[in-house]
Amino acid sequence: MEKIVINGGKKLVGEIEISGAKNAAVAIIPAVLLSDGVCRLENLPNISDVSSMIRILSDIGADIKSINAHTVEIDCRGVNSWILPFSMTSGMRASSYFIGAMLARFGKAKIAPPGGCDFGVRPIDQHIKGFQALGAEVTIDNGMVDARAETLVGSAIYLDKASVGATVNIMLAAVKAKGLTIIDNAAKEPHIVDLANFLNSMGADIMGAGTSVVKIRGVDKLLGTSYSIIPDQIEAGTYMVAAAATGGNVLIKNVIPKHLESISAKLMEAGVTIEEYDEEIRVCCTNRPKKCNVTTQVHPGFPTDMQPQMTTLLAIADGVSVMTESVWDNRFKYVDQLTLMGADIKVDGKVAMINGVDKLKSAHVIATDLRAGAAMVIAGLVAQGTTEIKNIKYIDRGYEDIVEKLKNVGADIKRVTYTDVDAQKKAL
Ligand code: EPU
Repeated sequence: MEKIVINGGKKLVGEIEISGAKNAAVAIIPAVLLSDGVCRLENLPNISDVSSMIRILSDIGADIKSINAHTVEIDCRGVNSWILPFSMTSGMRASSYFIGAMLARFGKAKIAPPGGCDFGVRPIDQHIKGFQALGAEVTIDNGMVDARAETLVGSAIYLDKASVGATVNIMLAAVKAKGLTIIDNAAKEPHIVDLANFLNSMGADIMGAGTSVVKIRGVDKLLGTSYSIIPDQIEAGTYMVAAAATGGNVLIKNVIPKHLESISAKLMEAGVTIEEYDEEIRVCCTNRPKKCNVTTQVHPGFPTDMQPQMTTLLAIADGVSVMTESVWDNRFKYVDQLTLMGADIKVDGKVAMINGVDKLKSAHVIATDLRAGAAMVIAGLVAQGTTEIKNIKYIDRGYEDIVEKLKNVGADIKRVTYTDVDAQKKAL
């Protein structure tokens, strides 16, 4: 197994290049199932969530040609399976997107419940409501979601929550349905817009992505395409916070500054200097960050996927900050780990009171999920001494070359192979 070891206390200085967006890529990969041609996907992040999604396509018969580390050509014309067992879906929340894509392609899908990071209950009732509105019959059979439709017919669907996953899944199911589908209270995240742009580049007719009303007029055929994934908003935000927390000065390259506005706004409120350019953002922090209150919200609000990283910055800010999580029920599990590093944070339900401390101290911690892992890395960069982070498989799900990227801006960070003695004992 591997762990990340950081000798903290060094300011990050230099340039970091941002990879393609995970949450756009994992929606676009299953969408390729709908194409009657070859799709070339560029700027794919080289992360384990993307390889897992591509492996699912490959396992069900897609022809995958790897062009380079960030580009693949996928031909799904030979796929004829609409069943994904637990062994294929367990590690991946986004595997649920195959329900919408397979329904559209085969009129049926049978998929084991998706896995993914544990933030409490992660229902898919809004996905199912959408499929049913399009005319599908959805049952849970032996723990598998079984969705079937003779014909999918466009419909008006109001989402009770502006769910990213439900919006993606309904778009996938509706893109070849008969007539017009209207998703009201749709999610507006940049990855929704990227998926719509990808589908439109194959010949779909989708309007309004990025607003709360997405209109999808069904088409008969989708063709092959060549498409480049947008840069990752959360990866960029993570390095922005890391630069600020270490008192550094970093130019974050290959970003869409508009996608980062809520993060930039909160960092500026915390006293961090942000300079925006066309496709770059410079983050510079010369003083101790100031307290500020943050509430996570759907886009364009402050993203929940930046909550653990921002909490880590506020843990060393001057004053008491309040972090309110409004998207997930249970996304503060990592706070125990930050506390081990000397943070003073009290969590009450969905609210964390963060009493900023002067310094964090090094410790042996674990990544409790993907963004929590990123928060541990930031904490390790800030803390004096040697921090070790285990469970880094979570970090590898969403951050391409995190160790190399941070090393290039002056961090003393490495991956170290170790033997998990406890796991070995359990296996005996
Ligand atoms: N919800 C329902 N019913 C549903 C679907 C969602 O009640 O049918 C609720 C959830 O319980 C949650 C809220 O709605 O309280 C938002 O869930 P959403 O469906 O928007 O989340 P998701 O699609 O499962 C995606 C990202 C997450 C990110 C959330 C919120 C992907 C693959 N995952 O998850 O990203 O936190 O949107 O923005 O796009 C991450 O990248 O670290 C990550 C967890």
